[in-house]
Amino acid sequence: MPDQNDALRRKWNRRHAENQAPPQAARVLCENRHLLPAVGDALDLACGLGGNSLLLAEAGMRVAAWDLSPVAIARLRGQARPGIRAEVRDVIAAPPVAKSFDVIVVSYFLHRPLLPALVEALRPDGLLFYETFGPRIVGIGPEKAGFRLRRSELPGLLLDLIPCYYREDGAAGDLSEGFRDRVMLVGQRLAACSYE
Ligand SMILES: C[S@@+](CC[C@H](N)C(=O)[O-])C[C@H]1O[C@@H](n2cnc3c(N)ncnc32)[C@H](O)[C@@H]1O
Repeated sequence: MPDQNDALRRKWNRRHAENQAPPQAARVLCENRHLLPAVGDALDLACGLGGNSLLLAEAGMRVAAWDLSPVAIARLRGQARPGIRAEVRDVIAAPPVAKSFDVIVVSYFLHRPLLPALVEALRPDGLLFYETFGPRIVGIGPEKAGFRLRRSELPGLLLDLIPCYYREDGAAGDLSEGFRDRVMLVGQRLAACSYE
């Protein structure tokens, strides 16, 4: 579907070109940085301007940063940070191969059919950090339901991972506080023998 992809690429190129804010790592990664291995290979999938990549490289990991947008990738390359290989790549057409990463980070990119390939792409003991929009309650993020997870949906899509961390504040309590309209998960793929 080249036409659809061209339109998507143009949309994201424009957004990334206009965004002058410094790249920021996702909260799920900042709050759970202590779970990262000391060394290894990490993938920042649909990396945008690469906030997650910068944190992962600073933490000592070798980082692959993939995004459809040449503008985003050019800006990340422009930072010339050692340890980061930034690549223009359609992650739906070319997902990561099996057992190729120790850590995969996905923030604010949701394509449900890709999730099994991401789990497969983790090496034994590998970690998936995921953060994206959940049910819309206070009005943060896109209106389109297709761009958001349903209530409690993400753990059910990642049953092959052991959940290390999950947060979905939903509509509980004081809506002016908390982590609203978004979901964070860290899951670990255990080595086969660890399941026993
Ligand atoms: C909302 S941004 C999130 C960027 C970054 N992960 C973050 O949290 O700042 C979504 C990103 O997904 C990228 N994207 C959309 N479809 C893609 C695809 N098929 N393959 C690779 N990247 C894609 C866009 O170019 C955009 O940079």
